[in-house]
Amino acid sequence: IDVSKIRNFSIVAHVDHGKSTLADRLLEITGVIKPGNENKQVLDKLQVERERGITVKAVTASLNYTYNNEQYLLNLIDTPGHVDFSNEVVRSVRACQGVIFLVDANEGIQAQTVAVHSLAKRNNLVIIPTLNKVDLPRANPENVKAQLKSLFHIEPDTVLSISAKKGWGVPELIEAVISRIPAPTVEVNKPFRASIIDTWHDKFRGIMCLAYIESGSVEVGENVRWRSDSKQHVLKYLALLRPHEEPIKKAVAGQVVMVGCGPKGGGCVGDELLSFESADGIKVASAPAVKHMVYAGIFPSDQSQHTQLSDAIRKLALNDSAVSVTVDSSPALGQGWRVGFLGLLHLDVFTQRLLQEHKAEAILTAPSVPYKIKVKGSKAIKQFKGEEAIITNPLQLPDSQNIEEYYEPFVIGTIITPVEYIGAVTTLCVDRRGTPLPSSAVDDKMTMMQFILPLSEVVIDFHDTLKSLTSGFASFDYQDHGFHPSSLVRMDVLINGLLVEELTTIVHTSRLEYNARKLTTKLKEMIPRQMVQVAIQAVVGGKVLSRETIKAYRKDVTAKLYGGDVTRRKKLLKQQSEGKKKMRSIANIKIPRNTFIDVLKR
Ligand code: GTP
Repeated sequence: IDVSKIRNFSIVAHVDHGKSTLADRLLEITGVIKPGNENKQVLDKLQVERERGITVKAVTASLNYTYNNEQYLLNLIDTPGHVDFSNEVVRSVRACQGVIFLVDANEGIQAQTVAVHSLAKRNNLVIIPTLNKVDLPRANPENVKAQLKSLFHIEPDTVLSISAKKGWGVPELIEAVISRIPAPTVEVNKPFRASIIDTWHDKFRGIMCLAYIESGSVEVGENVRWRSDSKQHVLKYLALLRPHEEPIKKAVAGQVVMVGCGPKGGGCVGDELLSFESADGIKVASAPAVKHMVYAGIFPSDQSQHTQLSDAIRKLALNDSAVSVTVDSSPALGQGWRVGFLGLLHLDVFTQRLLQEHKAEAILTAPSVPYKIKVKGSKAIKQFKGEEAIITNPLQLPDSQNIEEYYEPFVIGTIITPVEYIGAVTTLCVDRRGTPLPSSAVDDKMTMMQFILPLSEVVIDFHDTLKSLTSGFASFDYQDHGFHPSSLVRMDVLINGLLVEELTTIVHTSRLEYNARKLTTKLKEMIPRQMVQVAIQAVVGGKVLSRETIKAYRKDVTAKLYGGDVTRRKKLLKQQSEGKKKMRSIANIKIPRNTFIDVLKR
């Protein structure tokens, strides 16, 4: 294959602007799938993706296309749209030379449109501005072109118009991909070197990798090694993803291919696969830096399932390099893990995938953002080696007398909203301890607002609240803005005098009373009545800030059966005891497990 005929590109857009639909059309036009109505989001393979209608994983498809009597190989890398999965986007653009920058001609520029545009710019990618959904009666391509011009200085005559749904303009778009995006700049005559951009676990073949070949060529059966060690492996599997696997014998620089070295062959994102004779030194794999926004404890619902859950987490983490996993243990929940996520949706999707793809059920503790502390006197506390420590688990926050300074993570939030909601959005952001930055007009109806906000006020339910305040019209995206000094304390929850570890949180002092009251009243609503009285207390430094009581009550599920049929009675009692297993028991008080997450939502 001739490198000058390869194009590696990706489609980037705000969520729901039509990436997956456009990918379906590209697969049809290039003959991968038969045209027809049943082709809906062919690249969204995971069960979660189909159920939620969102793309979670970036997927690749190598497509053949003939243009001006020449054969081209187009490598499309489909990317997720949601903020939580932006590291998948970052990863896929590393193998690309250009992007189709898709904007809904009806909705116009949204918060994530701004984010993906700056991502493409930062990576020096060729941008093909494309308006989608021009078939909609309310589409206003001229207005959106004006928005693109005013925010990104994109000239209107370079913007393409398509309908991914109807297929309009898609052949012209492919031609633009071929004529505007350059072929990859790679060195075909150097030794083989490929960087790994994704990995997944295959039951029979071991770790499979998606690799971008940066130089040389490789054939099945050749000796290879990882950049991170000197061990020799044999390249066992080599295939194009179309998106189904198409085994090939040889691949060359510029291509994006699937590689695998068998069950013991290894491979991880950020590593490189080299020809065994390569003179390159050993270098530790450098996975792309990921900033975790929320942490939660994951524990088996029963310690007997520890091995199974451990296995499931390991396999899933291999396919989701954005999570960080460290071992954790708790007196109440036993051995488990502290897992870092990019956001709450990511956490949700991770636990859903654990269940669906690995049949592993888990208990989750309340999510927390990472805080930073500066310890008084350099070696005051044993577990912290330096003067500064990142606290990912509120239970590990040392006593306040040992802390010199607290820091909490902040973000720059970008909100694009219709002008009539400026007041409501400002109130929301100020209420969430936000500081406004200058805003700019998108057009005469829409404005782009920016705020510096504490991450803890954003991760849990900010997006949902913003959507409901603005009838769904505002969009939101955020970027890391580092740690800022803050005033924080640890708040505990006691149930009948016993600490509920899952509910310990770190709280901003201005929020203490509010959070304490909210937490106890919510818990009162959520904890079912029990045989004994339940006292719920929110406590800071030994002082009770808020207290609620649930009166005792005896639930007799068999009462209405008048002592009749014995088997029926037994069955009901059995159901009741199975229900109890889904509960977490503290001082004989049963708490439904979903309480730990739900209780934090406002
Ligand atoms: P994520 O994968 O979650 O980021 O979404 P996406 O950008 O891939 O969007 P998707 O392709 O799932 O499309 C979102 C919705 O817009 C779907 O209901 C599509 O049917 C619809 N849609 C996509 N393209 C068009 C189009 O050209 N015209 C019309 N009328 N609807 C479209």
